[in-house]
Amino acid sequence: MFGSLYLLLFVLLVELLWWSIAIQLNPSRFPRDFLFGTATSAYQIEGAWNVSGKGESIWDHLTHNYPSMIIDQSNGDVACKSYYKMDEDLEILKDLGVDFYRFSISWTRLLPTGYSTYINEDGLQYYNRLLNLLKRNNIKAMVTIYHWDLPQVLQEHGGWTNSSIIDVYVDYARVLFELFGDRVHTWITFNEPYQICREGYGSDRKAPALNNSGISDYICGYNLLRAHAKAFHLYNNTYRRVQKAKIGITVQAPWAEPATSREGDVQAANRLMQFRMVYASNLRSALEGYNSSRLPQFTSKEIEYIKGTSDFFGLNHYTSVMGAELPFVIPAALGTSFAYDLNLTYFYNTSWPSDTDWLKVVPWGLEKLLLFIKEEYDNPDIYITENGYADRETLNDYARLTYHRDYLNATLNAMAQGASVKVYTAWTLMDNFEWMAGYTERFGLVHIDYESENRTRTYKRSAYFMKHVFKRRRITGFGSRSGKLKTGVSCLIVTLLFSLWI
Ligand SMILES: *[C@@H]1O[C@H](CO)[C@@H](O)[C@H](O)[C@H]1NC(C)=O
Ligand SMILES: *[C@@H]1O[C@H](CO)[C@@H](O)[C@H](O)[C@H]1NC(C)=O
Ligand SMILES: *[C@@H]1O[C@H](CO)[C@@H](O)[C@H](O)[C@H]1NC(C)=O
Ligand SMILES: *[C@@H]1O[C@H](CO)[C@@H](O)[C@H](O)[C@H]1NC(C)=O
Ligand SMILES: *[C@@H]1O[C@H](CO)[C@@H](O)[C@H](O)[C@H]1NC(C)=O
Ligand SMILES: *[C@@H]1O[C@H](CO)[C@@H](O)[C@H](O)[C@H]1NC(C)=O
Ligand SMILES: *[C@@H]1O[C@H](CO)[C@@H](O)[C@H](O)[C@H]1NC(C)=O
Ligand SMILES: *[C@@H]1O[C@H](CO)[C@@H](O)[C@H](O)[C@H]1NC(C)=O
Ligand SMILES: *[C@@H]1O[C@H](CO)[C@@H](O)[C@H](O)[C@H]1NC(C)=O
Repeated sequence: MFGSLYLLLFVLLVELLWWSIAIQLNPSRFPRDFLFGTATSAYQIEGAWNVSGKGESIWDHLTHNYPSMIIDQSNGDVACKSYYKMDEDLEILKDLGVDFYRFSISWTRLLPTGYSTYINEDGLQYYNRLLNLLKRNNIKAMVTIYHWDLPQVLQEHGGWTNSSIIDVYVDYARVLFELFGDRVHTWITFNEPYQICREGYGSDRKAPALNNSGISDYICGYNLLRAHAKAFHLYNNTYRRVQKAKIGITVQAPWAEPATSREGDVQAANRLMQFRMVYASNLRSALEGYNSSRLPQFTSKEIEYIKGTSDFFGLNHYTSVMGAELPFVIPAALGTSFAYDLNLTYFYNTSWPSDTDWLKVVPWGLEKLLLFIKEEYDNPDIYITENGYADRETLNDYARLTYHRDYLNATLNAMAQGASVKVYTAWTLMDNFEWMAGYTERFGLVHIDYESENRTRTYKRSAYFMKHVFKRRRITGFGSRSGKLKTGVSCLIVTLLFSLWI
């Protein structure tokens, strides 16, 4: 009798040990402190563009004045009506079981004039209520300070090409820290500097569509990075001690795979990853007849000031490309352009599946990118602040479900190799206004019926899948990987029965 009890205890102990090792080795499970969430941005979901004293943003301006620049001539005037549907959206977030919700503040809803001298009461109440509801429901708030909707009045002074915007932005950030900081878990100063500057100032692919490639885009980047650093230091020096949030910046990066193993292609792909163009743009500036580089030079004091001003590496990732060197030298006479500075070509591998012309499914690209960031930037904490898939489907979005499953698997693979990923954010909570693509591309876990007065929200299959992932903190349906756990359980049952029998 006692003998079999000791045996039972012994077997249980061994089982426990084996099991805990198996769980640790089983990379299909995310660590306990890993955070899952979904993301949106104000202009893409709120609607109510001219309600209760909201000011005009560059996206209001562009969509109203140049509607033909949007594929379906649409705009964010109404969008998902999230301004009126906070309770409904919150119910969805609760039901999905997210750890956090990433959303952005509409600068002109809070500060209609762009400046911090006047705070719009309605905007204040709206974001206060959202933050209070999130807190009450134990959902952490990840707040993007700037997600592209610059006040139009500031654009009329040059926007990000005018260095006087730095202090205006920092004033805006200060208002947010003051008003909302007690309930914010993570601040993101800027969403995607590259897209803001390169696409908004260097091309016509985003507002304000300045289309001044190779000059305005660089000046924008110079001012934006200094504004970021200044907001970081303000937070770090004044608010951090009491509010204790993390603060950082988020970049969007693809993985660039060399087209061949030739040195030129490897370098081209690496250049695409690094945007390391100081040398190239200096050289081209001279060839093009400029007396100095078009690329603004940071002073060593500025470099010191900017260094270390992100608590994490914020990463938005969607797809991969193949990078290759150009088979010819671009003549200086062609003129000035960011693309000429970049001096390479890239393309998609035709074997990569997709429902759009750009968002190709390449899960191993994310794995390689995460390991690249680990190596290149001294193993920072990585927050995946966006990852998602575009299609034109309705509710049976198997492609999105598979995309998230495989990219989560890639994330776990990179973590097993030492990448310090702490956060995964599915872009996006619900279908919304997809910038120049209007409403033609859907990214949501939740479907929006744009025909319905209520903008009816309906779960897609991917929403149910992600709900499961959020709850179990593991990717389900992985035969070989959950195998370890199943073996453990079966062994436990068999040994239990066996020891009871003897
Ligand atoms: C707000 O914009 C809508 C178009 O989206 C327009 O119909 C309405 O008249 C505007 N309201 C005000 C108060 O300007
Ligand atoms: C830059 O902004 C300042 C302050 O708003 C303004 O006085 C100045 O005219 C702007 N410069 C340009 C070139 O627009
Ligand atoms: C932007 O510049 C390109 C090339 O210079 C040109 O083809 C395009 O029409 C311009 N877009 C706008 C909106 O002016
Ligand atoms: C661009 O790349 C080619 C090789 O593809 C190289 O010969 C050329 O010097 C580069 N141009 C500049 C301006 O760096
Ligand atoms: C370069 O400098 C020379 C002499 O100072 C001047 O004449 C010329 O206009 C300048 N070129 C440009 C493109 O600024
Ligand atoms: C943030 O503040 C802490 C405490 O004052 C300081 O040690 C740290 O160097 C600051 N971080 C940066 C990047 O300046
Ligand atoms: C495209 O991908 C396939 C399969 O991964 C690979 O065999 C092929 O070499 C790639 N094509 C190019 C042009 O790199
Ligand atoms: C997950 O990644 C591992 C390692 O690369 C791979 O063997 C496995 O097939 C992947 N699972 C799925 C479902 O893609
Ligand atoms: C729209 O939503 C409101 C409030 O959620 C509800 O009372 C109303 O019945 C809905 N209308 C339709 C047509 O579904």
